[in-house]
Amino acid sequence: MDGGARGYPVTAMTNQLESLRKSSTVVADSGDIDAVARWKPQDATTNPSLLLKAAGDARYRHLLEDAVARGQGGTEATMEHLFVNFGREILGHIAGRVSTEVDARLSFDLEGSLGKARRLIALYEAAGVARERVLIKVASTWEGIRAAERLEREGIHCNLTLLFSFAQAVACADAGVTLISPFVGRIYDWHKAARKVDDIPLDDDPGVASVTRIYRYYKKFGYATQVMGASFRKTGQILRLAGCDLLTIAPELLEKLAAAPGEVERRLVPDPAADIERVELDEKAFRWMHNEDQMAVEKLSDGIRRFDADARKLEKLVASLVSGRRAA
Ligand code: E4P
Repeated sequence: MDGGARGYPVTAMTNQLESLRKSSTVVADSGDIDAVARWKPQDATTNPSLLLKAAGDARYRHLLEDAVARGQGGTEATMEHLFVNFGREILGHIAGRVSTEVDARLSFDLEGSLGKARRLIALYEAAGVARERVLIKVASTWEGIRAAERLEREGIHCNLTLLFSFAQAVACADAGVTLISPFVGRIYDWHKAARKVDDIPLDDDPGVASVTRIYRYYKKFGYATQVMGASFRKTGQILRLAGCDLLTIAPELLEKLAAAPGEVERRLVPDPAADIERVELDEKAFRWMHNEDQMAVEKLSDGIRRFDADARKLEKLVASLVSGRRAA
């Protein structure tokens, strides 16, 4: 308690963001470096769409220009420098790890994903950033999961993204990846459209249910893979997952949580006694089980197309700067 302006006792009231931090590691989902600096999360995540948005912002123009200079006339090399430039800046504001995504075009290309991840890590290390501070984001396709399994053996830690089905979650844990990002909002979006409704109540939210199921399964069988709920549309979805290992949250929702007074009740708690059966998946079983989930099939392919489309827009921007530099 504290003395109020008129001498009345004032209770120091917590807000939902501060309270949430007690049960889950809060991560900022943004390429906006100033926003990351403001919210002081433990970790931060980026993706091609977030970096496209940030790259168009005059505040970060110097990161583009630096990448163009370092890329020495190559679009692919410039893109890699650009991603690492954003990652390094973000790391200057957080104590933990930044996630940098590999090209969505490589989602079905195991060798290509390995090469891209190794190059990104080499650039980070050349800039003095230890690989422990970076998570390489790879799509949770069969090929992406196999690539991550190999990268983890090289000490390159991975964040498996675009995760919509339980099959993807099981295969990621069996592969020993560091972290998964099961999407909540995009599952919610799909079901809203399928049901032709404007909202789905939290008790019935299929995105929240998906992360809850994955969390319970991982904890029951003692997997070390961390679960980071991602892609949120409203704060209620975040609060329902309080207790999840990590939650990556866009700045607008961080703002709303910080503005809402009150304690957050922990919802997810490990239950080793839970009555859950273990799932064994080889490649055929993985493909079959994932394919049985129409939402996951559609959202995974849509997610790959969308990240690729935004990466191509970013490439165009980079290519125009590269050719401008050549002409100068
Ligand atoms: C983070 O890892 C994801 O890329 C992000 O949360 C996706 O969010 P969106 O569905 O709002 O694009």
